[in-house]
Amino acid sequence: MMIKIKYVNLKRITILLWLSLLIVSCKKEPLVEEELPLPSFVKLAVPSNLPTAPEDPDNPLSKEGIELGRRLFYDTRLSASNRISCASCHHQELAFTDGVALNDKGESRKVLHRHSPALFNLAWANKGLFWDGGSTNLESQAFAPITSPDEMHQDLLIMESELKQIPDYVQRFKLVFQDEIKSKYVAKALAQFQRSLISANSKYDKYIRKEDNIQLSTLELQGLSLVEKKCKGCHSGELFTDYAYHNNGLDSMFSDEHEGIYQGRYRVTFNPLDLGKFKTPSLRNVALTAPYMHDGRFNTLNEVLNHYMNHVKVSVSTDQLMYQNNGEAGIPMSIQEKEAIIAFLNTLSDFDFINNKSISNPHNK
Ligand code: HEC
Ligand code: HEC
Repeated sequence: MMIKIKYVNLKRITILLWLSLLIVSCKKEPLVEEELPLPSFVKLAVPSNLPTAPEDPDNPLSKEGIELGRRLFYDTRLSASNRISCASCHHQELAFTDGVALNDKGESRKVLHRHSPALFNLAWANKGLFWDGGSTNLESQAFAPITSPDEMHQDLLIMESELKQIPDYVQRFKLVFQDEIKSKYVAKALAQFQRSLISANSKYDKYIRKEDNIQLSTLELQGLSLVEKKCKGCHSGELFTDYAYHNNGLDSMFSDEHEGIYQGRYRVTFNPLDLGKFKTPSLRNVALTAPYMHDGRFNTLNEVLNHYMNHVKVSVSTDQLMYQNNGEAGIPMSIQEKEAIIAFLNTLSDFDFINNKSISNPHNK
């Protein structure tokens, strides 16, 4: 018996020895060849009242990748004239929109046909980007502004060679993507930075998470319950948007000028029921992001609410939720209710986000 046990043990030990030798020898080679350090991979720190954020398995987030993206976002080398950066049209102090209806900051100095949207909580925007969803994801989106003649008008090869002249960039790309500088990595790094732009530290958030003893006033609470009743069909959940496409009755005619840019989602799907549908913007930070809508047609929240009350236009694609007036077009509100809604919308401003130094221009230091 004893001998037998010994024999078995010995055999096991020999197998173990062989195995460990095998593992050691397998491991050794790549370890010797691979001198490149890896970036520190991170998960998005999502505040407890937000849902978990979808990830892109092809673009794992790293601390260094996010920082590289931040540097590129604020770098004018991404444009043909080296005058314009992403931040020229997306200003942090305005939650990354630009404060004008339609801007002419692009290379051609032509007035754009769409209003610059705010940029935050984009990690959750998985039903497409741009007002009509014309871009599928953040990992490819950046090519549009970089190459568009009316935005940055950059040649991707020239951009690559300009960036390659900066040793700091060469090192950073090598660490993050284990490779030399390529435009696809520029887009991926920008995507990582933008995924990290999470805004959920408003007065409302602190109230919901029971932080710092923050309370909402009676008027603000009334506004919250009105928004839940009248608006949350589309501006839904804790992100205050469903990221989906709706026609909220701004127009009833949808001209096909400028490559169908006024036709909304139809431009992407060619489904007549998508005419005039645009992506629901979040109500977060909305007090900071005037003017409003895809063409910036309204200057104040009061004008927005007046639209919903009295000026909803009817067409075949107007959303069912726009008929809250006993089946007629419009969302009824008294003057006092309007005031309450605006008071509540003001509690959604995230001042920590717009003042956060870790997402501000790193080249200004
Ligand atoms: C000249 C102004 C301008 C510049 C420069 C610019 N953008 Fe924009 N951005 C816009 C406009 C206008 C839109 C809306 C376009 C549309 O919906 O058709 C937009 C839309 C976006 C969106 C979509 C957001 C959403 O909610 O769907 C993202 C993301 C974005 N820009 C990121 C960037 C990045 C990254 C850069 C730099 C590589 C950049 N932008 C440069 C004006 C600009
Ligand atoms: C049927 C869905 C729907 C409902 C219901 C709805 N909205 Fe909207 N809202 C949208 C869409 C879609 C847009 C963008 C439309 C566009 O730009 O063409 C929008 C835009 C806005 C904007 C402008 C945001 C920006 O950044 O430009 C505000 C503010 C707003 N809505 C507030 C409200 C309020 C308050 C209510 C309730 C009284 C409400 N909405 C009800 C779908 C809806």
